[in-house]
Amino acid sequence: MIKNFVSTVTLDNSQAMKLIHLAESIKAQAGDPNIRKLLEHKTVANVFYEDSTRTRVSFELAGKRLGADVINFSSKGSSVSKGETFFDTIATLDAMAVDAFVLRSPESGAAEKLIDSKTTSATVINAGDGTNEHPTQALLDALTIREKFSLGANQDFTGLNVLITGDIKHSRVARSNAHLLSNLGAKVTLCAPVALLPETADRTDLVLTSDFDDALATKPDVVMMLRVQTERMTESLMPTREQYVSGYQLSAERAARLASHAIVMHPGPMIRELEIASIVADGNQSAIRQQVTNGVYARMAVLFSAIAQKDSIDG
Ligand code: NCD
Repeated sequence: MIKNFVSTVTLDNSQAMKLIHLAESIKAQAGDPNIRKLLEHKTVANVFYEDSTRTRVSFELAGKRLGADVINFSSKGSSVSKGETFFDTIATLDAMAVDAFVLRSPESGAAEKLIDSKTTSATVINAGDGTNEHPTQALLDALTIREKFSLGANQDFTGLNVLITGDIKHSRVARSNAHLLSNLGAKVTLCAPVALLPETADRTDLVLTSDFDDALATKPDVVMMLRVQTERMTESLMPTREQYVSGYQLSAERAARLASHAIVMHPGPMIRELEIASIVADGNQSAIRQQVTNGVYARMAVLFSAIAQKDSIDG
């Protein structure tokens, strides 16, 4: 189905739906001991050049629950501090027979660059590259939306109004979701203070706005909040904390204006009381915990599908 998984821009709808259906079927059979045999004798290397809680643990559990051997490489505490280059590090791990690299990097385009370099012929999965993409996050979000709205097997997201709010400019989560959810038929609006909004949208079907209250008035079915990523800001773009909270926080008062069927999402890590009020994050419209649960199933689908496909290509 897929050999590598680096982007939702290049993922066609039938591939996306196959992965989502596979994740759903793995979730439904989670207790079946045969699931633990699917990637027996395979090795997955999680290579993380950036801090991560959810994504790293989620990929680790996904690999283990499919029966793979999983190694976790983090640039901290490795020979990277002795000057070893990225490609030499990958080549070193590759020489120990790795079937899939799960790569997180602060550099946009890092996963693509690794594939192009031919340093390894193993599967490469993008677990977040700079401000570019985070495709497995988009997949788990799509899976969560499908569950929350009880969508049928052949139903796409047509008619669904999705509002993504926060640091759009630096968000790989926003980019991957904007492409995947729009491709599947959702109307996607991206909302941020002017300084954190891209000058032009990636595609013409996206709506860009800096008015959160106006966007909420369109009665979104899904409100996805994003973290304010101060570590990615090269200049002081941010409004003050007070301005941000007053203009862009999903507060209890704003959440009260949501339709009763609407859901609240956040990829984590959340900065409570900045982009989202605790009472909303923990409230009954929140899908945040379910997103984390589904992350494991989405990543099991990607790992299984990519490694199985690689085997069929390599013969
Ligand atoms: C995000 C990331 O690292 O891209 N988190 C995640 O993977 N769930 C978002 C963020 O860092 O704000």
